[in-house]
Amino acid sequence: METGGSFICLIRYANMERVNFAGSDVKVSPIGVGTYYDFRWIAPARLLGIMPGKERRISAIRAAIDSGINLIDTAEIYQSEPLVAEAIKGLPREDLFLATKVWPANFSYEKLIKSCERSLRKLNTSYIDLYQMHFPSSSKSKMLEGLKAMEHLVDQGKIRYIGISNFSLDQTKMVVESLKKHPLSSTQMNFSVAHRNIEKDILPYCRENRISILAYFPLAHGKLTSESALGQNVLKEIERNHGKKSITQIALNWFISKYNFVFPIPRASNPDHVRENAGAMGWRMTPEEIALLESSVAGDSGPSSPVDPSRKS
Ligand SMILES: NC(=O)c1ccc[n+]([C@@H]2O[C@H](COP(=O)([O-])OP(=O)(O)OC[C@H]3O[C@@H](n4cnc5c(N)ncnc54)[C@H](OP(=O)(O)O)[C@@H]3O)[C@@H](O)[C@H]2O)c1
Repeated sequence: METGGSFICLIRYANMERVNFAGSDVKVSPIGVGTYYDFRWIAPARLLGIMPGKERRISAIRAAIDSGINLIDTAEIYQSEPLVAEAIKGLPREDLFLATKVWPANFSYEKLIKSCERSLRKLNTSYIDLYQMHFPSSSKSKMLEGLKAMEHLVDQGKIRYIGISNFSLDQTKMVVESLKKHPLSSTQMNFSVAHRNIEKDILPYCRENRISILAYFPLAHGKLTSESALGQNVLKEIERNHGKKSITQIALNWFISKYNFVFPIPRASNPDHVRENAGAMGWRMTPEEIALLESSVAGDSGPSSPVDPSRKS
């Protein structure tokens, strides 16, 4: 694993592994969970308030917390903020790290403040740990307005850290240079052992600038859950050195063995899957095992910085 001086600090607290977030002293589990389901779930939830499988999804988030995960990612567009609120009810707020996102249509100063207030209500909390711009806007001035609003929200104590998602390297640099009072703390990107394009540009920039990365699609959207994705030689080698580990545990452990500032956020919708995935914490692969895994997984070469074509805000 890379070491970045005080940047990384692994501790054992009540059997729970924690890593420093974005060079701060805030402790976050090296693996988080995501709460994006799909549009078939979002549309009825948004339009009709119908949430099929709601209880199971709440149980999955709760299973994550019970397994030592404290980083929970949601977004105003996902319609899952109320599920997160339900799952964390009664738990000490300071032990959790809640991340949500604002949609680009809401980047104007006033709209962003309103979005944040709405997310606070839906999450039933007085502050958001990480507030992220979900996608870049096609309008630079809107992004700048939104960043100003975010800095105001940090000053007010309503959000603790500022993040972005799906921004190119140039757009990330623009954000870093535009923030005047508070730094950019994280970016969220499509990243897995099967999709490693950000290692070429965005990741080195983040490492240099103490920006954490939340990795979405960490299981390559489910591709890294089947035995054929990894290969028998990898499974046998890992088992010989670390005991039996599942395919998803190996695919998720890859992030934390290789990087101390990358947090994979596999989806939490099935409590059994979540408990299994939490077993990716608490051990580390050697550099040789990492190399073996990387050479065994067929990757793709899509762009490192997806830009949502529907963006018109
Ligand atoms: N910022 C963005 O623009 C953006 C975009 C997309 C996603 N995200 C975030 O990233 C999160 C993860 O994305 P994702 O869920 O689509 O991709 P993913 O985590 O790569 O893959 C999820 C798939 O893997 C399955 N899975 C998970 N654990 C498993 C296990 N132990 N055994 C077998 N199958 C397992 C899931 O099934 P089950 O659901 O049945 O467990 C699901 O089908 C989202 O929830 C969201 O928070 C962000």
